[in-house]
Amino acid sequence: MPEPKILAALGLTPIWVRRTGPALQTDTVTQAFYPASTLVEEKHVAFNTEAMLVNTEQQPKHESFVDVNSSPISQSNTPVAELDWNTLEERVSHCTRCKLCETRTQTVFGVGDQQADWMFIGEAPGANEDKQGEPFVGQAGKLLDNMLRAIGRARGEGVYISNVIKCRPPGNRDPHPDEIAKCEPYLQRQLALIRPKLIIALGRFAAQSLLKTQASIASLRSRVHEYEGVPVIITYHPAYLLRNMPDKAKAWADLCFAQKTYQEIAS
Ligand code: URA
Repeated sequence: MPEPKILAALGLTPIWVRRTGPALQTDTVTQAFYPASTLVEEKHVAFNTEAMLVNTEQQPKHESFVDVNSSPISQSNTPVAELDWNTLEERVSHCTRCKLCETRTQTVFGVGDQQADWMFIGEAPGANEDKQGEPFVGQAGKLLDNMLRAIGRARGEGVYISNVIKCRPPGNRDPHPDEIAKCEPYLQRQLALIRPKLIIALGRFAAQSLLKTQASIASLRSRVHEYEGVPVIITYHPAYLLRNMPDKAKAWADLCFAQKTYQEIAS
């Protein structure tokens, strides 16, 4: 049974616990979310509903330019697939392969444990990430941190977080196909160096980009896919969950499925 504090960390509240009788099963989170009349007592409130309404990504666009000639690495001909971690990060930081370099403040390479078994992949940096240089630092990031806590993990502890796209698309528009294609070698190299056991794709864009499909999230969930030889599980983007609270129950089910899959892989 998921402990109330785990559900609270995930924002799956209010929940209701029986006074007596059998405990809830992990896969009955929906029941916990939509309490039956027989379920009473112990209401946990953990979600700041005001925060849910704030779109922190609607920030002014940053106009700054990067000196593409400032680093010898930016001019090196070494293929991305042969770079080590530091030179890869340096290469990304000077990248001018698409026009997103003209509007970014800085690149957002990724954060976490380079030996991580779990890799979470989002879409692209938003305004906060563009400013701070770290993925998922806004409200969506706080929810992602809660989701990680719910499965006994944390940013940097067995987890690496990155995005399909390393630069913020202006106005948070969807990345264009050419931008995805130009950025993909960086993600592929990150994967090759980290060698995670499991990828969690966060949201439609990450799922469709990694799996090269137009299929909906709903149709891709609850199955194990593959990207670059690594098992992939699809779940909702935390920013979407902030706007669609009932789907948090599905995200919780996805995380339970990911845990189960990981245990099978790791054993
Ligand atoms: N959304 C994403 O997909 N990635 C981030 O880093 C932030 C918000």
